Amino acid sequence: MKNIMVTGSSGLIGSEVVTFFHAQGFNIHGVDNNQRAVFFGPPGDTRWSQKRLSETLKNFHHHELDIRNRQDILDLVKEIKPSGIIHAAAQPSHDRAAAIPFDDFDTNAVGTLNLLEAARQNCPESPFIHMSTNKVYGDRPNIIPLKELETRWDYADPTYSNGIPETFSIDQSKHSLFGASKAASDIMVQEYGRYFGMPTCCLRGGCLTGPNHTGVELHGFLSYLVKCNLEGREYRIFGYKGKQVRDNIHSEDVARFIHAFYLNPRSGEVYNLGGGKANSCSIIEAFKLVEEFSGRGQIYIYMEENRIGDHICYYSDLTKMKLHYPGWNITKSLKQTIREIVQSWQERLQK
Ligand SMILES: NC(=O)c1ccc[n+]([C@@H]2O[C@H](COP(=O)([O-])OP(=O)(O)OC[C@H]3O[C@@H](n4cnc5c(N)ncnc54)[C@H](O)[C@@H]3O)[C@@H](O)[C@H]2O)c1
Repeated sequence: MKNIMVTGSSGLIGSEVVTFFHAQGFNIHGVDNNQRAVFFGPPGDTRWSQKRLSETLKNFHHHELDIRNRQDILDLVKEIKPSGIIHAAAQPSHDRAAAIPFDDFDTNAVGTLNLLEAARQNCPESPFIHMSTNKVYGDRPNIIPLKELETRWDYADPTYSNGIPETFSIDQSKHSLFGASKAASDIMVQEYGRYFGMPTCCLRGGCLTGPNHTGVELHGFLSYLVKCNLEGREYRIFGYKGKQVRDNIHSEDVARFIHAFYLNPRSGEVYNLGGGKANSCSIIEAFKLVEEFSGRGQIYIYMEENRIGDHICYYSDLTKMKLHYPGWNITKSLKQTIREIVQSWQERLQK
């Protein structure tokens, strides 16, 4: 039975990857210290997810480790010599990063280096898949000319009619401290591919979502929006008339791509991983979709000021992913994804 290691295993992406690879017959070592609860307080607690994995998956082994602890990470990778490392542990919020710059950089940049070096020393042939983010592009997508439609913004420049490609510059724009720490790790992961020839890739996520997200105001907008809807709580829109566009991808489709890369790895690659134009929506469009499934009107308040560095319109160009991995495609529509998130919160809020 092959071993794989998943960091951030209690989080949205980590837990989905654990479940997906377990179903394919892997022995899984998950690393998570519930740091999300430290970053975001009790609403960010992921113990429920860890418990679910431990109770339902017999070949899942939880390790209560902090990826910032270099020696612990070196020891674990040396001991288990995984056939693949999926790195999904992070401080994931760009707004939160400004208040905790050391924790943010130590987790996102240094934690990633700890894992890369542990992999190079112990299992350099094993695919290393890093969850990066579209925030590495900073606010540069905002300089693309836009057109204002009734319920959303869209690109006016036909160059971007399929979305943002991987060739888009990550340089000379405002990233937030989070975007900067993630850009550091993104480049380091590419470098371990290019310099050492290791099979690494960076997945620059748009909005990754799904029923297992523990959405909070500062991270996980769809999950949080649904939670507000079901609890009858006010959702705060920050600027851009609520027409800001996000592309949403179900975490299962993320896990499916990670598995495809694991089976046929390349070196030092970068992919923009989102739902693409077909799975994109604005915030006010999201309200309508959620209302359809929950039957409840969304309560919200509009704040004039946008979040610093926030994208006005972002959707990923999926062309390169599909070219390199033609067997992969989006399998969950936005509607289906929202329906699952609504169902999941309905169950979790009843407990
Ligand atoms: N969800 C999104 O919309 C999105 C978008 C773009 C990129 N990403 C990236 O994908 C990855 C996964 O995101 P997610 O949504 O699953 O986040 P998440 O917060 O749900 O999961 C991350 C997990 O990592 C754990 N963790 C954090 N710091 C740790 C540390 N120092 N040691 C051990 N464990 C630690 C947390 O407890 C949490 O369970 C992150 O790298 C994130 O930046 C996410």
